[in-house]
Amino acid sequence: MKDLVFATNNQHKIQEVKLIIGKTFQIISLSDIGCTDEIIEDANTLEGNALIKSRFVFQKFGYNCFADDTGLEISALHGNPGVFSARYAGEPPDFEANIDKVLREMSDISDRNARFRTVISLILGEKEYFFEGFIKGNILNHRRGNNGFGYDSIFVPSGYNKTFAEMKNEEKASISHRYIALSELMKFLNSVDTSGII
Ligand code: IMP
Repeated sequence: MKDLVFATNNQHKIQEVKLIIGKTFQIISLSDIGCTDEIIEDANTLEGNALIKSRFVFQKFGYNCFADDTGLEISALHGNPGVFSARYAGEPPDFEANIDKVLREMSDISDRNARFRTVISLILGEKEYFFEGFIKGNILNHRRGNNGFGYDSIFVPSGYNKTFAEMKNEEKASISHRYIALSELMKFLNSVDTSGII
């Protein structure tokens, strides 16, 4: 199996990505390559942040790699928290405080439309590529479920009546924004000759 570096140490993401493409690629994390640096994600778009992570790994360690950046984009909040999803309630990043802030801001709002959007940046053979995936849904006015991470407990994907946090890991991994973006990445990797590159 070919190795592919995924520029993250988020165990939830690694687990999800392994469920999705782990049969085709051996997923190598940042700690696996000895990268302990804190990568500052200070771009103002998901694309920019994903690129910061993949470029960092490529430039410092020389690996072809991919990185993702995800945001919860809520229509009534003009796309927020969006690229600010991790630190929406300030430093240090706190999933619970972030959810509390969203629920507070949405308390009088009837338009509950939102989407999770993932952007993947791939660096392969010194070239840069982007892939995107999103899933639409609704924001609840209270938490439901204990699985997952981030905003999972307040997001119900369209066509379902449970939150991501009420789904089994496999179920979320089979429909999520990350799944859709990774499927695009896989389509691309399957369409090019990667021998000698990875
Ligand atoms: P990241 O920069 O891609 O790690 O994502 C930024 C923030 O978005 C995370 O800290 C989480 O709060 C949130 N997030 C990312 N992916 C998910 C997901 O799959 N479910 C719920 N929240 C997520």
